[in-house]
Amino acid sequence: MEKVVTRTHSTCLVLWLLIIMEFLLLFFSAFSSEIPSRKIKDIINKAPAVKLHRNNERVFIDNGFVEVTIEDPSGHLSGIKYKTMPNVLETRNRNNNKGYWDIVWDNQVYDKLPGQQMKIITQNDEVVEVSFTKTWKSTTDRRSSVPLNIDKRYIVRRGVPGVYMYGIFEREAEFPDAHMYQIRIAFKLKEDKFHYMAVSDSRQSIMPTAEDRVGDHCQALAFKEACLLTNPTDPRFRGQVDDKYQYSAENKDSKLHGWISDDDAVGFWVINPSNEFQTGGPNKQDLTCHVGPTALSMFTSTHYTGTEMDVLFKTGEPWKKVFGPVFIYLNSAAPDPNHGYRNALWNDAKTQLSKEIGSWPYNFVASEDFPHADRRGEVDGQLLVRDPYIYKKLMRAKSAFVGLAAPGIAGSWQTEGKGYQFWTQTAQTGRFSIKNVRPGVYNLYAWVNGFIGNYKLEQEITIQPGNKINLGTLIYDPPRNGPTLWEIGIPDRTAAEFFVPEPNPSLVNSIINNHVDRFRQYGLWDRYSEIYQNGDLVYNVGVSNYSKDWFFAHVPRNVGNNTNRATTWQIRFNLQEVKEAGNYTLQLALAAASYAEVQVRFNNPNSRPYFTTMRIGLDNVVPRHGIHGLYRFYSINVPGNTFQRGENTIFLTQSRSQASFEAVLYDYIRLEGPAV
Ligand SMILES: *[C@@H]1O[C@H](CO)[C@@H](O)[C@H](O)[C@H]1NC(C)=O
Ligand SMILES: *[C@@H]1O[C@H](CO)[C@@H](O)[C@H](O)[C@H]1NC(C)=O
Ligand SMILES: *[C@@H]1O[C@H](CO)[C@@H](O)[C@H](O)[C@H]1NC(C)=O
Repeated sequence: MEKVVTRTHSTCLVLWLLIIMEFLLLFFSAFSSEIPSRKIKDIINKAPAVKLHRNNERVFIDNGFVEVTIEDPSGHLSGIKYKTMPNVLETRNRNNNKGYWDIVWDNQVYDKLPGQQMKIITQNDEVVEVSFTKTWKSTTDRRSSVPLNIDKRYIVRRGVPGVYMYGIFEREAEFPDAHMYQIRIAFKLKEDKFHYMAVSDSRQSIMPTAEDRVGDHCQALAFKEACLLTNPTDPRFRGQVDDKYQYSAENKDSKLHGWISDDDAVGFWVINPSNEFQTGGPNKQDLTCHVGPTALSMFTSTHYTGTEMDVLFKTGEPWKKVFGPVFIYLNSAAPDPNHGYRNALWNDAKTQLSKEIGSWPYNFVASEDFPHADRRGEVDGQLLVRDPYIYKKLMRAKSAFVGLAAPGIAGSWQTEGKGYQFWTQTAQTGRFSIKNVRPGVYNLYAWVNGFIGNYKLEQEITIQPGNKINLGTLIYDPPRNGPTLWEIGIPDRTAAEFFVPEPNPSLVNSIINNHVDRFRQYGLWDRYSEIYQNGDLVYNVGVSNYSKDWFFAHVPRNVGNNTNRATTWQIRFNLQEVKEAGNYTLQLALAAASYAEVQVRFNNPNSRPYFTTMRIGLDNVVPRHGIHGLYRFYSINVPGNTFQRGENTIFLTQSRSQASFEAVLYDYIRLEGPAV
């Protein structure tokens, strides 16, 4: 009797405490948005258990915050129920066209990677993980589907408003050759709800609708991806340009993007907690979100690299890779007519991104193919730069990119398309620590802002579970043969420091912030022919200023009637003395190249080219509004007797001009005198 009374008392006390806390919560939520109050609630009341149920056609996973619907056995994501929204995905679309993986392989063949078998991997109150697999069979699948074994996974966790997605893709040794150009997940959101797109702090806006991009609502520009909105549903967009490539981002910056439904004050976000499973390194660019409303998670592609990206998978080359997990996060705020919640949702999504990064590598992922932290390794060290023509002592490589990628030649990581890559940036001291590296064999690569060329540590690095390797001090000797006579630009692998013109006022996309991202405007290539109508670019060393006088892209001249002409740029400079017996060096770093050729001549524009890059590049950066593609570097030896005392001219001819997008972007040019 006594005991029961005590228990009743303590239960009462707990109840009272809960009531008081609820009361406090209500009080606080009246003053703050819904986001923090939800989090407090999570702490007080343990979130409901994760529940899985299924019928003949679908699997439903519900954690009280979201209910996720997946088609069985295809594994297509067909529903996410959240707050006031019965489905954040476009309900009018077919069930294989709402949230799906897809691949572009061999000659533009397209495959949505449907599964054939569903399996429950984990099912308890804390987490549910399900798998949708398909095993490729040479007898039935030879021509109809990509030679790939597929395992698509979904994870829903207790108390977490969203769903984790990853895929384990495998090719057995005897599978036939296949190019796998593009692998991604696409989400088609509810068209009448999601109007506000956010892909970075500066690129956020209400967007045109899918309908605005078809029929007589728009006019295709130089290529089908870019259109001029002539008759959009929302008159504010009349005269605006839209092109999905204007919303691209580099891997390192592409960790969060999504859409907001203003009616519901709900945000849908693709969170990418790691770049380890992406290809091409930290600077590889790819799509994020675009009119649809569509949100993407890109894993492999040839965007901004072209087919130099290694995407050919050969027979006899077994391969397995885990793409993801990525996290689809949903958040909500109290609606307010001034749209004040948009910022709150974006900032909350950024906070969530930090949390996801903080818990990487996720310890709740069940696949053996995804090693948890204790089965990963670490590589530490310090990178210094030795360039005695700049500074007699060793210099710290500040904010340098240091990474592990598949063994190859220096710089090969930018076209590496099959393995995992692990990158970090050095501190001010040049120190770096690459954590959570999967077991494997790698080379260590680096590039240093402000210096040309590529660093590679010759010795291969083998990571074993749990090991920590300290490489000590590494020294990078950037290409250098003599003192700098002059230089143009900054060696940073982009053309961003050069002159990027204002867009044609009738071809503007106003989502683009002209202070941050001016190069993403449409049609800048055509401005060259307007600005330089009386003759090609001439740069006078010592007088000209590369931020005003060096056009960011070396494009052909548009002479009308769909015709282009090659252009020759001049660098004029004065040499007080010429060391005839010595060798000079022209260091030429390119930030991008597409079907282009740079020919170099000295003092005589009509001579045979002294040097040519030959035809190079497939990165298509100019029409994709990129400020860089693949980095290329040339060190050109020039005998002293090529020059004369006084005025000299270097002629740079971009000789390919069949189309207006045959172009190079320079990164940096330097003339060095003979060694002293
Ligand atoms: C070059 O031009 C930029 C942009 O107008 C300006 O900020 C910079 O100071 C100039 N540099 C020099 C050396 O005049
Ligand atoms: C434009 O190009 C077409 C086809 O190449 C040619 O027939 C025509 O004469 C050209 N017009 C002008 C004005 O050059
Ligand atoms: C200059 O370069 C040429 C060609 O590479 C080479 O043969 C010669 O030895 C070099 N001269 C000097 C002084 O380095």
